[in-house]
Amino acid sequence: MDITLWIMIIGWVFVLIWVPFIIYTNKKAHPKALFVLFFAEMWERFSYYGMRALLVLYMTKVLFIDLAQNVAETQAYGIYGSYTAMVYLFPVLGGLVADRLLGFKKTIIWGGLLMSLGHFTLALQGIEGLEGNMPFFFAALALIIVGNGFFKPNISSFLGTFYETDDPRKDGAFSIFYMGVNIGSFLATLTCGYVGQQINWHYGFGLAGIGMLLGLIVFYFASKTDMLQGKGGQPEEVTKGERKFLGLKPDYGVYIVSLLAIPVCAYMLDLDEVMSGAMIVISLLIIAYLLYQALTAKDKVEGQRLLVVIVLFFFHAIFWALFEQAGGSLTIFTDKNVDRFVGGTEIPASIFQSLNPLYIMLLAPVFSWMWFKLNKAGKEPSTPMKFVLGLTQLALGFGVIVLGAKYFASGDGLVSIAFLAVMYLLHTTGELSLSPIGLSMVTKLSPAKVVGFVMGAWFLSIALANKMAGLIGTLTTSEEVTDDTPASVTLGIYSDTYWIWGFCVVGAAALLLLLLVPLLRKWMNGIH
Ligand code: PHE
Repeated sequence: MDITLWIMIIGWVFVLIWVPFIIYTNKKAHPKALFVLFFAEMWERFSYYGMRALLVLYMTKVLFIDLAQNVAETQAYGIYGSYTAMVYLFPVLGGLVADRLLGFKKTIIWGGLLMSLGHFTLALQGIEGLEGNMPFFFAALALIIVGNGFFKPNISSFLGTFYETDDPRKDGAFSIFYMGVNIGSFLATLTCGYVGQQINWHYGFGLAGIGMLLGLIVFYFASKTDMLQGKGGQPEEVTKGERKFLGLKPDYGVYIVSLLAIPVCAYMLDLDEVMSGAMIVISLLIIAYLLYQALTAKDKVEGQRLLVVIVLFFFHAIFWALFEQAGGSLTIFTDKNVDRFVGGTEIPASIFQSLNPLYIMLLAPVFSWMWFKLNKAGKEPSTPMKFVLGLTQLALGFGVIVLGAKYFASGDGLVSIAFLAVMYLLHTTGELSLSPIGLSMVTKLSPAKVVGFVMGAWFLSIALANKMAGLIGTLTTSEEVTDDTPASVTLGIYSDTYWIWGFCVVGAAALLLLLLVPLLRKWMNGIH
């Protein structure tokens, strides 16, 4: 039987044992809502990453099959880049809608509906006559983009409302929630990848849709019970009928506008250059707006707390720009320069991408527990300090791979798997020190009325980071390098790039932030 099928089966069995265990051991310490949101987000991420695993391959191997290979690839990467940028751009609007108009529950359900529709639209493209229909394809992606904007930021913000602002369990809760994110992506990459590539593309996309639908069903039924404690309703002004949207009842207004946004988005997907420019302009505008809010806030404490979010925004972006090399240059590096033979069989490079979610599954509960214990002992690092730790571990991870490349590579330029495994381990512990903490922080530091919006803005740093990641990735390519370039030559290109960007730049960012920690702590005004 083929090895990917085996890995998929082992992955599922492991998750089926591990998840109940984690729920059982954390049941008493956390509200039920954590587990509802955990499952809803797990399935949403399953759909998102399942589809993402197939997207570029589907474009190059099916949609653009008639084009020359390099033209097809350039087109596919362009669309992929615009797609991921928009995916993390729309949360700003989704957050605003939840804050001002629909409340968390309705916004999340609406987003989930649009996303499942998007995945099913991709699945339907398998019907004769629709295959290769580009407007149909773009419409499907646009549905996912708009839906994700409503769903993804708000489910994190919503989780924050189940804990008091400075509840010591909050970072722990976000770490467990983050485990849900990664279980979803772990299973998705293994399953949709397998089904899509080995059996049929459209079954893979359909599976992603079924995942999203499951998440939606979990959330919908839970929202009818007291598990969500009656939270997440619409703002009072709306329920009292005082606030309208475009002269309509806000619900209808939002539904209509989102449906209108879909063709616009679909159209934008094809305009790579315009998208890059637009993204930078929009990000600057939003940061400027937040800065304005922070500096003119009537409540000085609120303003300073918002400033902390803005400062950490940039460090968050640097972290992800390098971390995200995993899906790009690091995978190609693994392919070319890592000795992937184990017991006589060669492991495909892409499989190494599942190390990160695997480590997260195992370590997220440890981190959740560790923060709690440190807190009790009065030794828990502050949020900015956790960011310093995250960046440091990321830099050390790159340090390890550079060390392996420079001093321990074989004569023909191959590095042992051990270095790669340790590097990903450090990247993952770095991610756990920073990413869930960042989400938790946004819910602690932003004023309750705008938390959705600020969370959306926080996701912008991911959008920008992914763009930067692409640029850094291109530093490892060069016109002189072809398929026949010996591994000993490419090794030097990779290790130089990772040394400068991964170790030095990230390390310098960590140092700079370390110097800022006292100031940021003061601005947090008593919040940990
Ligand atoms: N893997 C994370 C996720 O999918 C990446 C991310 C972190 C996205 C923080 C947004 C915010 O959730």
